[in-house]
Amino acid sequence: MSKYQQVQKELLNEPKTWLITGVAGFIGSNLLEKLLKLNQKVVGLDNFATGHQHNLDEVQSIVTDQQWANFMFIEGDIREPNTCNSSVKNVDYVLHQAALGSVPRSINDPLTTNATNIDGFLNILDAAKNEGVKSFTYAASSSTYGDHPGLPKVEDRIGNPLSPYAVTKYVNELYASVYARTYGLKCIGLRYFNVFGQRQDPQGAYAAVIPKWTAAMIEKENIFINGDGETSRDFCFIENTVQMNILAATASDDAKNEVYNVAVGDRTTLNSLFDSIKETLSENDVQYSSEPTYRAFRVGDVRHSQADISKAESNLGYQPEFNIQQGIQKAMPWYVGFLR
Ligand SMILES: NC(=O)c1ccc[n+]([C@@H]2O[C@H](COP(=O)([O-])OP(=O)(O)OC[C@H]3O[C@@H](n4cnc5c(N)ncnc54)[C@H](O)[C@@H]3O)[C@@H](O)[C@H]2O)c1
Repeated sequence: MSKYQQVQKELLNEPKTWLITGVAGFIGSNLLEKLLKLNQKVVGLDNFATGHQHNLDEVQSIVTDQQWANFMFIEGDIREPNTCNSSVKNVDYVLHQAALGSVPRSINDPLTTNATNIDGFLNILDAAKNEGVKSFTYAASSSTYGDHPGLPKVEDRIGNPLSPYAVTKYVNELYASVYARTYGLKCIGLRYFNVFGQRQDPQGAYAAVIPKWTAAMIEKENIFINGDGETSRDFCFIENTVQMNILAATASDDAKNEVYNVAVGDRTTLNSLFDSIKETLSENDVQYSSEPTYRAFRVGDVRHSQADISKAESNLGYQPEFNIQQGIQKAMPWYVGFLR
């Protein structure tokens, strides 16, 4: 039995209470779905800045009525300390996902990104400390590697941040480490590497590459590749990310107060990503015949990204269940159903 299977069995036997911030977003709503299926009690906090009611509605349609009754939603803002204090009441595990994502958004509006990702983070962290939760797991980011040239990325070798977003995610790590040392709060930072999958938002100026291209192919629009297409990323299917959150939150104390890469340990170029989405959509009766348009590299983007996941494997028992191709196979039918 894998560590993940073992933890799920224990949670089913002895349900816990979880807080998911950013619960109406992509990762948050997938965490919600998994935890409700495991009969856990979940408090969810979101202000719908980038999340959607339809993500919550979809989870409701997937789980049983009894499981849905274990969910309490609070519409509120992590920038409000009182909202954070009431959200953490009687919570065992915090999974803090709420933030403003996107490097370009942070370049266009650094102040709002800072207020949400740093002030909001500190509000939740402090509330969690005061409540005495069992653990505080938070969404960090591979952007923290910044300009460090090493590949694959190893947790303790980072460079300078390349965007305001990257600064905020690094500051989260610094605060978590100080709260761990000063107050004994059990913190784990998860450096996500390009997560993708069902319910990742395909709309808007700051959509991530996989949902953006998928929507463009379904709607027969042009696709733009920033740079020469040989930029590469370690794309991580959502189910792997859910696994890491659950393993991290419930990990033994000696695995806590650390940051972990969350990825597959592989690297895919934008050019091959384009081909892979196109082929998989074709298997789902969506034909796209145009070639991509190449344009300038984007400011703040790193050239290559690939994670070393051995720390998560050895400390947490992480075993990614999906590679990029398996993830794309699962995600494409969802987008076709959602967008058509
Ligand atoms: N998706 C990725 O590839 C990726 C990569 C690295 C890090 N992350 C981090 O993972 C987390 C989740 O990202 P996601 O992809 O699910 O994005 P998302 O935009 O779908 O979800 C973020 C959620 O946070 C909510 N939120 C934003 N500001 C808030 C506020 N002030 N108060 C309450 N709720 C607020 C949004 O409404 C949204 O529902 C974020 O912290 C993000 O920075 C994501």
